[in-house]
Formats: sequence, C-alpha cells, structure tokens
Amino acid sequence: MWGALLCPLLWRLLLLLSPRDGVCAAPQAPAYLIAAPSVFRSGVEEVISVTIFNSPREVMVQAQLVAQGEEVAWSQGAILDKGTIKLKVPTGLRGQALLQVWGRGGRAEEGPLFHNQTSVTVDGRGASVFIQTDKPVYKPRHRVLISIFTVTPNLRPVSQKLEAYILDPRGSRMTEWRHLEPFCCGVANMTFPLSDQPVLGEWFIFVQVQGHVYNKSFEVQKYVLPKFELLIDPPQYIRDLDICEKGTVRARYTFGKPVSGTLTINMTVNGVGYYSQEVGRPVLRTIKIHGSQDFDICVKDMIPADVPEHFRGTVSIWATVTSVDGSQQVAFDASTPVQRQLVDVRYSKDTRKEFKPGLSYVGKVELSYPDGSPAEGVTVQIRAELTPKDNIYTIESVSRGGLVGFEIPFIPMSAQHVWLETKVVALNGKPVGAQYLPSYLSLSSWYSPSQCYLQLQPPSRPLQVGEEAHFPMKSTCPCNFTLYYEVATRGNIVLSGQQPAPLTHQRSRRAAPETPIRLMHLSETEPPPAPAAEVNVCVTSLRLAVSPSMVPLGRLLVFYVRENGEGVADSLQFAVETFFENQVSLTYSANETQPGEVVDLRVRAARGSCVCVTAVDKSIYLLRSGFQLTPAQVFRELEDYDVSDAFGASREDGSFWWAGLAARRRRRSSIFPWPWGITKDSGSAFTETGLVVMTDLVSLNHRQDGGLYTDEAVPAFQPHTGSLVAAGSSRQPPRAEKTKRTFFPETWIWRCLNIRSDISI
Ligand SMILES: *[C@@H]1O[C@H](CO)[C@@H](O)[C@H](O)[C@H]1NC(C)=O
Ligand SMILES: *[C@@H]1O[C@H](CO)[C@@H](O)[C@H](O)[C@H]1NC(C)=O
Ligand SMILES: *[C@@H]1O[C@H](CO)[C@@H](O)[C@H](O)[C@H]1NC(C)=O
Ligand SMILES: *[C@@H]1O[C@H](CO)[C@@H](O)[C@H](O)[C@H]1NC(C)=O
Ligand SMILES: *[C@@H]1O[C@H](CO)[C@@H](O)[C@H](O)[C@H]1NC(C)=O
Ligand SMILES: *[C@@H]1O[C@H](CO)[C@@H](O)[C@H](O)[C@H]1NC(C)=O
Repeated sequence: MWGALLCPLLWRLLLLLSPRDGVCAAPQAPAYLIAAPSVFRSGVEEVISVTIFNSPREVMVQAQLVAQGEEVAWSQGAILDKGTIKLKVPTGLRGQALLQVWGRGGRAEEGPLFHNQTSVTVDGRGASVFIQTDKPVYKPRHRVLISIFTVTPNLRPVSQKLEAYILDPRGSRMTEWRHLEPFCCGVANMTFPLSDQPVLGEWFIFVQVQGHVYNKSFEVQKYVLPKFELLIDPPQYIRDLDICEKGTVRARYTFGKPVSGTLTINMTVNGVGYYSQEVGRPVLRTIKIHGSQDFDICVKDMIPADVPEHFRGTVSIWATVTSVDGSQQVAFDASTPVQRQLVDVRYSKDTRKEFKPGLSYVGKVELSYPDGSPAEGVTVQIRAELTPKDNIYTIESVSRGGLVGFEIPFIPMSAQHVWLETKVVALNGKPVGAQYLPSYLSLSSWYSPSQCYLQLQPPSRPLQVGEEAHFPMKSTCPCNFTLYYEVATRGNIVLSGQQPAPLTHQRSRRAAPETPIRLMHLSETEPPPAPAAEVNVCVTSLRLAVSPSMVPLGRLLVFYVRENGEGVADSLQFAVETFFENQVSLTYSANETQPGEVVDLRVRAARGSCVCVTAVDKSIYLLRSGFQLTPAQVFRELEDYDVSDAFGASREDGSFWWAGLAARRRRRSSIFPWPWGITKDSGSAFTETGLVVMTDLVSLNHRQDGGLYTDEAVPAFQPHTGSLVAAGSSRQPPRAEKTKRTFFPETWIWRCLNIRSDISI
C-alpha cells in the first residue's frame, strides 16, 4: 500500500533528473489529467485534451460517450505527454451523457492503466442558422425571397434538415416548409408570394433546426410615397442640464428641393421619476422652416428641479412640418440621452473579481458619455482598501480613450478582500466636488494551500489572427515548472500544449524578467502590520499562435503541477479581432453606369465556395436598420457558444452606478449585489474556461470551508451559454437608424453559385 503510493513520487523525482529514461522500472500507472468541454454539442467534433504526467512511452487513450446506457461515440489516440482526442457527437443528441476514458499501455493483454468518467451536458444546438430576406419591407403581391444559412460553431456549412414557417402579424401560420434541404453547402432558399390583401404589419419567418427556433421579421406595408422627407438631427447627448443644446430639423422633397412651411416641435423628457418612466413637462414651439431649422432643447424647462442624482432619461422630440402646399409629415426621435452625472464609470469586463495574494492586481475603468462614447479628460481617483482604515493604494489618473488603467503593485498575502472605489473628481481639469457617486468593486482572494499563485497578464489590445500572442505571467513560487495550457473558444478546445520549464541557469537569454522582483507591502496611512510581507515574484511567459478558430473570444487556461500534486492555475479571456478564413470580395466592372447598360460583377472566394449574391436598390438599407446580416451579427452568434459559469456572467452585467446610492452609509452590509466570501481556486480556473476535469494526480479543488470561505453562497455551477462581450468590442449599439423612407425598390439579383475559378455574373 505504502510502496504503491511512494513509487509514483520517486518516479517523478527521477524524471526531473533524467527525463524519459528513468530507472524506476516497475510498471507504474502513469498519472493523467483529462479536460473536456463541460457542454458537448450535437453534431460537433468535441476535443478532449489529455495530459500524461509520468510515462516515457505513448499511452493509448480511448474516449467514449454514453447516452442512456448506449455508446454513441468512440475514439482513441496515442498520447505522449500531451495531446488531444476528437469525439464526434451524433446529431440529434441532447441531455446528459457520460464521458468515459481509458488509458492503455502498448500490450493488449495488459489491463487498462487508468479509467475515469464524468458526466457532460449535451446541448442539442450544434449549429447556427442565419436567415436573410431580400428586403426588409414588402408591399402586397411582392414575393419574399428567403435564404437560410446553417453553419457549425466553426463556421463550416452543414446540411441539416430544416423546418420553416411564416406567421402574419395576427399570428396565423401562412405557409410552412417541412424537410427543407439545403441545395448548396448549407444554404436553403424559399420564396413566399404575398397575396393582394395581406395583413399589414410585422411578419415573422421561423426556422427550426435541432429543436432550436430562429426568427427573422419583415414588414408588409401599403405603398405610400411620401411627398417629402423629414429628419430630426438631435444632439448626441445633453452635456449639462442647465444649458440649452441645439437640434436641427431637415425637410426635403424626395427630388432634393427644400420644403418651406411651418415646423411644430413638441418635446419632453422621459424617465424623470425616481423609479417609473415618468414624463416631464412638454415644451411646444412653432417656427418657420425652409429646408432646415435649428431649435433649442432646454432640458431644465422639462424636468423637475429636484431630479435625483442617478437621473437618466431621454429627450423625446416630435417634429411636425406642414408645407406651404398643404402636405404634412411627422417625425419622432428619442435617441438623446440626458443624465445628471455626465460620465459613467464602470470596471471593464476583463477586470477580475479576484486577486492573487502576493501579486499585483491590474484593472481598468471605462469612462463614457451618455451616448456610450469614450469620455476624455476625466480625472478619476481609484482607491483600494483592505478594511475601511487600511488603504493600500490610491491613484488619480486622467482618462485617455475613455480608459484608465491601474495596477495595485502588491496585495498582501494575508488579504481576504479588497474594496475598490473609483470616483470622478474632475472633468477636463475642473473639480466636480462631491457630485459623483463612487463605483465600487469588491475583490476576493484566490485560494491556494501552498500560497503558490500564477497570474496571467491580459493582452492590452484585441489579438489578431496570425500573430504570435505573448502572455506574460507572474508567479509567487519559482517559475521552473512545465506549463500546460488549453485554449477554449466557442465552447470547444482549440489549442492544447505544454511549455517546458525555462532553464534557470540560462540567465543570458531572458535577462530582466527572470530575476525575482522584491516588493514590499506599502501602506500610506498606517505603518505596515508587524512583519512586512515580502514575496519573491518571478515572471515567465507563454507564446502561442493566434488561429482563426480563436475568433472572437478565447479563454486561456494555464496550469502547472507542484510536487505534492497541487495544481496551480489561472485563466483569462482574450478578444481576437474578427476574421473570416475564406475572404470573399466583390468588384464591379464600372463604378458609374447609365440605365440599360451591362455591369459585370466579379466574385472572388476560395475554390469550391458557395457564394450567394444579392443586388437590390441601396435605399432599402434606409427602410429599416439592422435587417441585413453583418459579420458582427455572425460573431455575436458565435460568442453564444462560449461556456461560462452563469454566476460570473451575471455579475459582469451592468454598471455599478446605482450601488453607490445604498453604499454611502451602509458599506459592506449584506445588501450588495456581489456576495462576500466567494473564493476561487485552481478548479474554478478550469470551470471558467468551460472545462470538466478528470485526474488521478492533480488536486485542484481546495476552496476553504468555514468562516468567510463558505461554499454556500456559491450557486451550483450551471453551464451557461451566455455571451460575454469581449473587452475591446464596441460598448454601445449604434444609435437607431432614424431615416425612414417608404419606397419599394425591386431586387435585381438573388442567387447562389459555386465558385470554380473566378466567376462573373
Ligand atoms: C426572435 O428571436 C429573438 C432572439 O433571437 C427573440 O428575442 C425574439 O423573442 C424572437 N421573436 C419571436 C416572435 O419569437
Ligand atoms: C406633445 O407630446 C405629448 C406627449 O406625447 C402629447 O401628449 C401632446 O398631445 C403633444 N402635444 C401636441 C400639441 O402635439
Ligand atoms: C524549482 O526551484 C526550486 C528552488 O528554486 C526547487 O526547490 C525546486 O525543486 C525546483 N523545481 C523543479 C520542478 O525543478
Ligand atoms: C471604382 O472606384 C474605386 C475607388 O473608389 C477604384 O479603386 C476602382 O478602380 C474603380 N473601378 C472602376 C472600374 O473604375
Ligand atoms: C476521476 O477524476 C476525478 C476528478 O478529477 C477524481 O476525483 C477521481 O479520483 C478520479 N477517479 C479515479 C478512479 O482516479
Ligand atoms: C433557390 O436558389 C437556386 C439557385 O440560386 C435557384 O435556382 C432556385 O430557383 C431557388 N429556389 C427558390 C425556391 O427560390
């Protein structure tokens, strides 16, 4: 019994001295760590990452997926040290399944070296559907042309049977298609002719695949050609509640001539109440207009004098123009935000909610104006406290590009919580006094029994496909470890590898970062507690190639194993700029042409691609915004495959501006939306990356019990496929398209073709 336990340890020590030709000849079971996505997807080839710790020979690893007692997928691979096995999940599978793994030696007569199993959830949704119509608005008797694109999370076309139906605005099913078959790699199409008296309004196309329903709406309207076009051009946002801003109304006939007449403006402010959507006083103004006319927006005339500090509303503007020839148009706009605190403060999504004791803490604060644009020249004060009296860090910094980055150089080993407070103190150098409420963030300590912590530094900008990414990392224990890493994107493992320990005696190659950095606990207000904590921190780094499979959001997990079997891990999310592997381009033979002339269209794409081309009048883009499929929409859908723990995700939503209200007097009471006493450990680094682990060597879960470190506050882990927006992606949706035109152009081209060489239409 004892011998059996001791030999693996001995074996490992020998390996350190002379890898691969150890002397411990006893046929010892190699140790393993197997990580797999916690959510499998129907039809997807799932990647299982295998790490074998102490075997000089290849180990044959078999993986099997069992659902309702039956084997549904099986695969195997020979693994030396580290490798992956792919398991193709059958389409149509959903629910709980069992993932079983075996390790076998070279000879068949030997029994398995190891066996383990874990349950995984199989999500029925293994493909995404994008629905495209030729136009956003149709009139009676028009034909609605519909294309449906089905792709895997890897953006590869899949030919799956689809069902589709169309509902009119009353909810009646107007038509349906059963067993639609894609005609060309993953693309299915249908046509729906509208009757001569269809129900006017918003119609819906529903497409069902693998039990998931996707929808897309279009409008049916009567043909009413407006005499003239009326546009409201409001300010981006209200800078100051006491100052009047200017808006503009423009009225032009469709052939370009300015409209003369009378303009009536009716304005008010929405959301002036404390909780409800109360409306302020209306302001009515009638003026003359010739083509365009400016008008004043004076918010203080519309809102009560005592609007609360957290007041945020919008200005509603109705503009009515009656032209001299008697026709009338009304336009409405409610896109101008107005708030009492001009600048919003929030911690960026990649600012972590945990710190690693003994290491620095890096965070970022985002400052934005009410329209979401980055706020420049804002001075913020950031403070970090261990207790209300124990401040460990204070900095004042001015925003650039809407951001303020900060780094707390050292968090004491003894710290369990850190309270972060960010306050706007000046705008463009002008002090704002106590007008701004602070934004708080509570950080809790990561836990490791050995006090070995590893901390990855997030990249400062979104990575680009094709580059070699460099992730520096700090460690409170010596950096002479073999580092293992996994990259998960869209819920699957896309890269897996190991990096041998840097040879410490080769100082010359890596000069500065290898030398331990000595840091002292500095305290501003009080002398440091008894023995000043002193930690040796070493720095190492990981380099990896950024591949298209990591778009748009990757999760990197790194870990190493201490001699006592403790796993030390860290994980982070990184954004990768969107990139399509197949670059499609379209060129015309002429930029300008006369009616009736022939224009050549040249489509370029990888050989064998299926390309769908649509040509419609450009003005349909003005009819209704957001109807056209965009690359951003495709990547947003892909982000949905990311597996995150729901708990982490919910905390990352929303700003903390309102928390300050309650927090003023009652700091640290139980009313805060973020719970105290949540400690993370190496196991949670795997969970956050969306991985389940099987291992007979590495201990990962050592969250402390009792006291502050209670598990009860942690809701059970629920694999959640939520979209965590990457840092670096745009923070605000673009303002609603305000242009409305009711003009129905025809569709000229609507067809798909296979690219053999270059194709001209
Ligand atoms: C259409 O899909 C969106 C999400 O993609 C959903 O929010 C919306 O409720 C759906 N609409 C209908 C009518 O089902
Ligand atoms: C101005 O707008 C308010 C709010 O919708 C509305 O109740 C009121 O009737 C409008 N007044 C005029 C003259 O259009
Ligand atoms: C790493 O270095 C420390 C001392 O610096 C030593 O005690 C330890 O055994 C080394 N570990 C490995 C895996 O080489
Ligand atoms: C069309 O315009 C683009 C730039 O605006 C130019 O690069 C291209 O050569 C033009 N094509 C033709 C056929 O004139
Ligand atoms: C299987 O993996 C789990 C999770 O890592 C571990 O707790 C368990 O001991 C392993 N079972 C065996 C038989 O090694
Ligand atoms: C679907 O597209 C193909 C190729 O573009 C075309 O030949 C076919 O007529 C279309 N079918 C429908 C129902 O629109």
